[in-house]
Amino acid sequence: MVVVMAAEAGEADVQAVVERVESAGAEAFVSRGVNRTIVGLVGDVEQLGTLNLRGMRGVADVVRISVPYKLVSRENHPDRSVVRVGGVPIGPGTMTLIAGPCAVETPEQTLAAAQMAQAAGATLLRGGAFKPRTSPYAFQGLGEKGLRILAEVRKETGMPIVTEVVDAHDVELVSSYADMLQVGTRNMQNFALLQAVGGAGKPVMLKRGFNATIEEWLMAAEYVAQRGNLDIVLCERGIRTFEKATRNTLDISAVPVAQRLSHLPVIIDPSHSGGRRDLVLPLTRAAIAVGADGVIIDVHPHPEQALCDGPQALVNGDLRELAKTVRDLPPLVGRTLA
Ligand code: E4P
Ligand code: PEP
Repeated sequence: MVVVMAAEAGEADVQAVVERVESAGAEAFVSRGVNRTIVGLVGDVEQLGTLNLRGMRGVADVVRISVPYKLVSRENHPDRSVVRVGGVPIGPGTMTLIAGPCAVETPEQTLAAAQMAQAAGATLLRGGAFKPRTSPYAFQGLGEKGLRILAEVRKETGMPIVTEVVDAHDVELVSSYADMLQVGTRNMQNFALLQAVGGAGKPVMLKRGFNATIEEWLMAAEYVAQRGNLDIVLCERGIRTFEKATRNTLDISAVPVAQRLSHLPVIIDPSHSGGRRDLVLPLTRAAIAVGADGVIIDVHPHPEQALCDGPQALVNGDLRELAKTVRDLPPLVGRTLA
């Protein structure tokens, strides 16, 4: 941590900072420049943060050097992690395809979507039983009935389930069916939910909030990690920008940035970011090229009848092309998959 003194700060101001730091058991190193004095601090950053140095006379700024997300940072954990979901790995050396319906609607629709996904090479099944909808009048999901359908389809196909939980009170219920808990974009900073999923003993997929910075996303992951769960996969799903041609703007640079800052696997969701079927394949190509550890994709046997997000769902024909891309592209862009 570095304290930057104001240009007009006097020697007494500098000394006051040094004394406060030393009285907390940390060390202070004063460096005097022509115009400015800075004080380098060595000690427990969290404790230094409680000293209210920013409020002291003559202090212009206090700059933190180490990252604030300790458990998920790569700084403290240089090797990238692999997260296993029902035995399926996500992380370095993988390009995991997760696919399924946006929302679980009926047993037939969910099974058909799962079979389409599996035929395309997907190893994990996605599907929402609790849907976070903008409108309270829109389809909200089947709740526990949807979870039961997912469990049936898992029995039939062998595919582990990724499903969203939107309320901290439902974490136990959803965990009793799910192989991986999804926290959606709208709930990325629902701290009670993050803590609850952190304590559930299941891998977590944490989507980036559409208004969140990468640092806020990693701080949200830290909430989960702090509860003793490091099985977290980060999912970039598009952010809100001025652009109206797409539903959200896929921040493709977030993949290498997050992978550099954090040891957690990073995947992308080309369905919810673009919001358009025709963009899923090009965005998947981009994800593979940029080094994403996987993609999560909406599929539906009859998108025109879908109760949620039909325009972005892939149908059988599109899936053949997607499967080929996921299989053939990685070596062409220099990626070796295990
Ligand atoms: C889908 O998974 C989400 O619930 C959906 O994208 C929400 O968007 P909407 O409610 O604005 O349609
Ligand atoms: C979803 O994947 O079902 C979903 C709701 O996505 P997001 O939170 O990214 O909108």
